[in-house]
Amino acid sequence: MATLVIIGAQWGDEAKGKMVDVLADSADVVVRYSGGNNAGHTVITGGKTFKFQLLPAGILHKDCISILGGGMAVCPKSLLDEIAATRAQQPELGQLMVSASAHVVFPYHRLLDRLEEEARGENKIGTTTRGIGPAYTDKVQRIGIRMGEFVEPEVFRKRLGEVLAVKNRLLSMFGENAIDFDSLYSEYSGYAAALRPLVRETDSVVQNAVYDGWKVMFEGAQGSFLDLDSGTYPYVTSSHPTAGGACIGTGIGPRSIDGVLGVCKAYTTRVGEGPFPTELLDETGQLIRDQGQEYGTVTGRSRRCGWLDLVALRYSARLNSLSGLIVAKLDVLSGLPELRVCTGYMLDGKVMDGLPTSVSEWNRVEPQYETVAGWSGDLTTARSLSDLPSSVRDYLDFIAAHVGIPVAIVSVGPDRDETVVVREDLVWGNGKN
Ligand code: GDP
Ligand code: IMO
Ligand code: MG
Repeated sequence: MATLVIIGAQWGDEAKGKMVDVLADSADVVVRYSGGNNAGHTVITGGKTFKFQLLPAGILHKDCISILGGGMAVCPKSLLDEIAATRAQQPELGQLMVSASAHVVFPYHRLLDRLEEEARGENKIGTTTRGIGPAYTDKVQRIGIRMGEFVEPEVFRKRLGEVLAVKNRLLSMFGENAIDFDSLYSEYSGYAAALRPLVRETDSVVQNAVYDGWKVMFEGAQGSFLDLDSGTYPYVTSSHPTAGGACIGTGIGPRSIDGVLGVCKAYTTRVGEGPFPTELLDETGQLIRDQGQEYGTVTGRSRRCGWLDLVALRYSARLNSLSGLIVAKLDVLSGLPELRVCTGYMLDGKVMDGLPTSVSEWNRVEPQYETVAGWSGDLTTARSLSDLPSSVRDYLDFIAAHVGIPVAIVSVGPDRDETVVVREDLVWGNGKN
């Protein structure tokens, strides 16, 4: 058992970055498979804080190869800035590769992201305005520019000319000035030259690693309910954060995946607009926001906070065929005398046996809660299950029983060390051998 997918099981920001960094210690390859710099993956170690947006969170491990997979949408300027900023904090990093199939994000994508959000008015999605939606739109429309084309000067010149002509017509419809070809080409040619040594066909690199029995980790971004197909559409991102996306975004097939760990918080958060059945708009929500420092890594926006939603989490467990759960930020709930946990949805007076089918249904859902005991004290020093108060262990048992998936790892603080591995057999395996 040597391949492991790490996904966000909720609406993003579950602590995937921390967990990928922790587990990358024993990985040979970490490949990120979707999204772009709409993601913000925080890793805290040795007194330093790293906020990865494009770099796989395995990059701090010098013996681990980090790959930006073909399913990603990559802003070249942000990537180069991020490489420089990370090197400034830690000079020795792992080897880095960028898939020739990854799509390039250009300034017109960012501009259109903002203009489209403004045009949506009160129906805005609340995107990160990093141009990710428009870049994936180009991919689907088959006019996107991929990394492999970007780093070939003459191909890039031709493709940019074609695409910019279309984008400038679109921008004029929004009343915006046209983007000048020469200055865009000249600026981005510089980024292309800097990235050229990193760009290659990476599917074979990942396939060879998998077939040679290397330990390969697939790093998800965003979360299952932000998935373009499975999330709360249209309040979603434009890629596939689910475990299925790991195949599409890196060039492997489903039978090459041995284990899938789903990261969730001990509660729920969401950034941006869209349905959130267990959202707390009261002082408890604010308390969780304050104690959990729930402010977005990318945009600094306040994250909306609410109780743990086990209906959503169980769906997510099946959607991603989870082999184990990683429950993070348990320390944040310390001091709350009791906790509420959503174990059912009611719609129009009836108990639902599936998920809502539209935003209008999602917004009418009435969560059914069970109340469980809370805990107090500092959890951050716990390094084994037995170090945790019994009410924390009961909470974990409650979650595992309801979701039908065992808890593999627990996170009790942001630092790499503030981690409790509960089931070692689930880390690089599915617990069946
Ligand atoms: P990601 O997008 O899933 O990688 O998550 P983010 O990095 O956006 O957000 C998670 C935040 O919680 C980061 O600021 C982490 O440093 C922090 N964090 C991770 N695990 C824990 C934990 O167990 N306890 C606390 N208090 N903070 C955590
Ligand atoms: P990580 O990897 C949380 C949200 C945005 C918005 C919606 C669409 O850090 O968990 P987009 O810019 O992708 O078109 O925005 O998706 N979103 C995230 N929320 N964590 C993320 O990434 C997110 N990436 C996008 O807030 O609601
Ligand atoms: Mg994040």
